[in-house]
Amino acid sequence: MAVPLEETALPPHAGAHDPELERLEIDLLLEAVYRRYGFDFRQYAQASLKRRLWRRLHAEHLDTITELQARLLHDPACMERLLLDLSINVTSMFRDPSFYLAFREKVVPLLRTYPFTRIWCAGCSTGEEVYSLAILLEEEGLYERTRIYATDINENVLATARAGVFPLAQMQQYTQNYLKGGGKHDFSQYYVAAYDGAQFSRSLTDNIVFAQHNLAMDRAFNDFNVILCRNVMIYFDKALQDRVNTLFYESLETFGILALGHKESLNFTPFVDAYEELDVAERIYRKVR
Ligand SMILES: C[S@@+](CC[C@H](N)C(=O)[O-])C[C@H]1O[C@@H](n2cnc3c(N)ncnc32)[C@H](O)[C@@H]1O
Repeated sequence: MAVPLEETALPPHAGAHDPELERLEIDLLLEAVYRRYGFDFRQYAQASLKRRLWRRLHAEHLDTITELQARLLHDPACMERLLLDLSINVTSMFRDPSFYLAFREKVVPLLRTYPFTRIWCAGCSTGEEVYSLAILLEEEGLYERTRIYATDINENVLATARAGVFPLAQMQQYTQNYLKGGGKHDFSQYYVAAYDGAQFSRSLTDNIVFAQHNLAMDRAFNDFNVILCRNVMIYFDKALQDRVNTLFYESLETFGILALGHKESLNFTPFVDAYEELDVAERIYRKVR
């Protein structure tokens, strides 16, 4: 049967406003990205993913998600730009200082009972969180016997993390965070002004291994006493959150510590009974079974 002309005469880019078509285009783009580059964003939370794809699309002066897919497939540099858009790297030193205070008060005494501690900082971004942790452990006399594995999906942020140079302009804010987080010394003793920034003491990285690791695809690499994964799973959908929580459960020793971000929790996950809450507000859990 012939389709009436007026039904086929859609305005250009009408798909952009058709939620079903948009969803199809996004699914196809994510599948294409996965198969071409191996980056799996298929289970990221839709709303923020959509926003970021449209932002990239406009920045590339394109009109449809399908055009963005074509560019991504043929232009690896465009993929790099999208990767930066999708992996939201906002972070800071001693972010949410009350977390560090709770860590000092509730986790450190447990770590003192171990001869050696292995910590995984997953989704470490540009490293501010790992340096904060190293400083805290140094002040508690535990850094010497700690190994921190700091991982992220994004190689660019890991390069910044390895360099350990952060904007000087942030140091005032970081000093306040450090003190609120229970810092014991003069914060400025940990860095010197260099390369237009604050170069953090190289000794802080002595026991840190930075490595690329994709929580959506890769396996865990060993048994940990502590896993920090803060402000990462908020970007994942429920299925991916469950995958990552399984990964963490399998990677933690019994009585190991799991620390999540302020907006994340184990409530409504299959693991709620496997952990006890060490600090409810700070989302610090201890694996008990
Ligand atoms: C908002 S930052 C959080 C940084 C730090 N944990 C904090 O709380 O300040 C989120 C980080 O998660 C990383 N990320 C996103 N998806 C990831 C994945 N599938 N595997 C590993 N890291 C991922 C991003 O690259 C980004 O650096």
